[in-house]
Amino acid sequence: MGYKIGFIGCGNMGRAILGGLLKAGIVKADEVIISCHTKKSCSEVEEEYHVKAVLDNQEVAGNADVVLLAVKPNKFEEVIPDVKAGLEQNAAGENTIVISIAAGKDIAYLEKNLGKNQKIIRVMPNTPALVGEGMSALTVNAKVTEEDLKYALTIFESFGKAEVVPESMMDAVIGVSGSSPAYVYMFIEALADGAVAAGMPRKQAYTFAAQSVLGAAKMVLETGQHPGALKDAVCSPGGTTMAGVLELEKQGLRNAVIAGEMACIQKSIDMTKCD
Ligand SMILES: NC(=O)c1ccc[n+]([C@@H]2O[C@H](COP(=O)([O-])OP(=O)(O)OC[C@H]3O[C@@H](n4cnc5c(N)ncnc54)[C@H](OP(=O)(O)O)[C@@H]3O)[C@@H](O)[C@H]2O)c1
Repeated sequence: MGYKIGFIGCGNMGRAILGGLLKAGIVKADEVIISCHTKKSCSEVEEEYHVKAVLDNQEVAGNADVVLLAVKPNKFEEVIPDVKAGLEQNAAGENTIVISIAAGKDIAYLEKNLGKNQKIIRVMPNTPALVGEGMSALTVNAKVTEEDLKYALTIFESFGKAEVVPESMMDAVIGVSGSSPAYVYMFIEALADGAVAAGMPRKQAYTFAAQSVLGAAKMVLETGQHPGALKDAVCSPGGTTMAGVLELEKQGLRNAVIAGEMACIQKSIDMTKCD
């Protein structure tokens, strides 16, 4: 039987994507096939999503119209030979679309290992996909048609926002959205710590901090106003917010964020160069 989508690996990101696709009705459970490394993961995925899960990557790559590579980058050497063998047997032939979400694996690497005639889409999603608020960047090789890209966008828009970027932007994407949820969690944790220091119960502090970050992010996205203008609107002359802003500037908040993000971007550049 031919499946619409096959997942090679289905851990954190794979499950976030699968959950989004099923919830949005883009695919039905019986149109999906998954391969995992262990029987335990296969059983978990089958139980939770009612999809078919196997231990055979070749079977998945050989029987799906879209093959999504969702293993860790260091597993690629191990899985690529089976994926390639599967693609060679796939009845859809060169129309099969391979989507990779791995950090540090660029289009050149994927073409070298899967063949230049393969339709390849490289995507960088992020974990808020798990709650339907992901941010994904897509970049394609020359074989991918407008129609293929439109379909791929519907996949990634099923659990958040998705935009097409040139591949040269992918390292910046990893810094600004792929990895940045970790930095935002650190900010939320610190914000809550301040409230706890002032006597607020910890659980309540996380709610207040997280909702404020969520609300501020929505203000940026929905008003279209510059973040600086939105900040200015909160800062009354001589007021409490301005006192906080001055101290944050003195402590180097912006520099720390930019430097952390640049370190992440550099790591991504170095990882891609290794292949
Ligand atoms: N996590 C993020 O924030 C994030 C963001 C953007 C992109 N990514 C990318 O997403 C990819 C997956 O990351 P993740 O966080 O989802 O990893 P993960 O939770 O560790 O999941 C990896 C999956 O790969 C499976 N696997 C391992 N070896 C395999 C093999 N030989 N054959 C078939 N399946 C195999 C594992 O199966 P078992 O469970 O059976 O071992 C598991 O289902 C990575 O390439 C990463 O760069 C992650």
